[in-house]
Amino acid sequence: PAPLRLGIAGLGTVGIGVVKIIQNHPDLIALRSGRPVRITAICARDRTRNRDADLSGYAWVDQARDLALRDDVDVVVELIGGDEGPARELIELALDQGKDVVTANKALLAVHGQALAERAEAQGRTIRFEAAVAGGIPVIKAMTESLAGNRIKRVMGVMNGTCNYILTRMQSAGLPYETVFEEARRLGYLEADPTLDVGGIDASHKLAILASIAFGTQVAFEGVEIEGIERVSIDDISRAADMGYRIKLLGVAQMTGRGLEQRMSPCLVPCDSPLGQLEGGTNMVVIEGDAVGQIVLRGAGAGEGPTASAVLSDIVELARGVRMPVFGQPATTLDTPQPARTAVP
Ligand code: NDP
Ligand code: HSE
Repeated sequence: PAPLRLGIAGLGTVGIGVVKIIQNHPDLIALRSGRPVRITAICARDRTRNRDADLSGYAWVDQARDLALRDDVDVVVELIGGDEGPARELIELALDQGKDVVTANKALLAVHGQALAERAEAQGRTIRFEAAVAGGIPVIKAMTESLAGNRIKRVMGVMNGTCNYILTRMQSAGLPYETVFEEARRLGYLEADPTLDVGGIDASHKLAILASIAFGTQVAFEGVEIEGIERVSIDDISRAADMGYRIKLLGVAQMTGRGLEQRMSPCLVPCDSPLGQLEGGTNMVVIEGDAVGQIVLRGAGAGEGPTASAVLSDIVELARGVRMPVFGQPATTLDTPQPARTAVP
């Protein structure tokens, strides 16, 4: 069978991770895809940068958008990032050119996901984004495939590893927020704009994407009630601990009689619950289906290997020819969400 040919834009943490997996496991990927998967063209900003991978067999393009115009590219893999600019331009052009797209770009999908999905559908193409939510945890696939027979009642979880690191470290080391924030910055955990992490925005991007899949609605990031972790004090954490609780930045989405409720905020979770025991840096997603009951997925929400692993799952699905509509119908979003009444697992 003909190989699936990839054009990869962005050769940073995730992009190079994808290149390495494809180079390390070509037979495994071909077996699972039913055909070979090859990288034909690549792009990043700086061609001269040393990238810890052999890129000599691939055509280099100077402008990301040129990947979308190449005849030897079937699927464009967008790993640049950012909710506007070159990433959006590339994806739109790729879809218009009749190519499928794989991306890890939660910021872009949270804002423009619906329009991009419609654009894809108009061309009989698709846009896949397993890596955009909770990194290596296969949560999109779990909901769209493994739990396809369920009406999802609620989805919730810890979806920002950096916030989880900060809160966990404040708890375990008894250090104030400002100290741990600086530590996270030194360790390179924070996004270039740290408010995306600590302001709860990155996690809310993920929650909005997840909610749209869970409830078959359009992505409604603007409907997420967001409170970050900047105001969580060491006193809050020790008082919570005295009562047997931990504080986690928890995202909850559920469909109520009045509409879609999406909330991202610091919450008390019992110390001995799976969420309470979740160690810093990791993610956990809890899904409640009417048939299956409660499913708990836990794993690495970021990093080269885990995120590239999720990107590969999308690539393999496309190689198999699996395409499906991504987002659904508009939903009423609650203007004044109800107080949290979540029984935390
Ligand atoms: P990086 O910053 O490590 O890499 C970004 C890459 O994009 C770099 O190779 C950069 O080039 C390239 N780039 C930037 N601007 C352009 C441009 N105009 N044209 C072509 N290439 C460009 O990002 P990550 O790999 O960490 O993230 C990629 C995506 O994955 C983002 O959407 C992110 O949100 C998402 N993601 C990342 C996770 C992670 O753990 N890192 C987890 C989940 C999702 P150069 O190297 O030359 O500067
Ligand atoms: N800043 C994000 C996090 C990266 O800490 O989880 C992965 O999306």
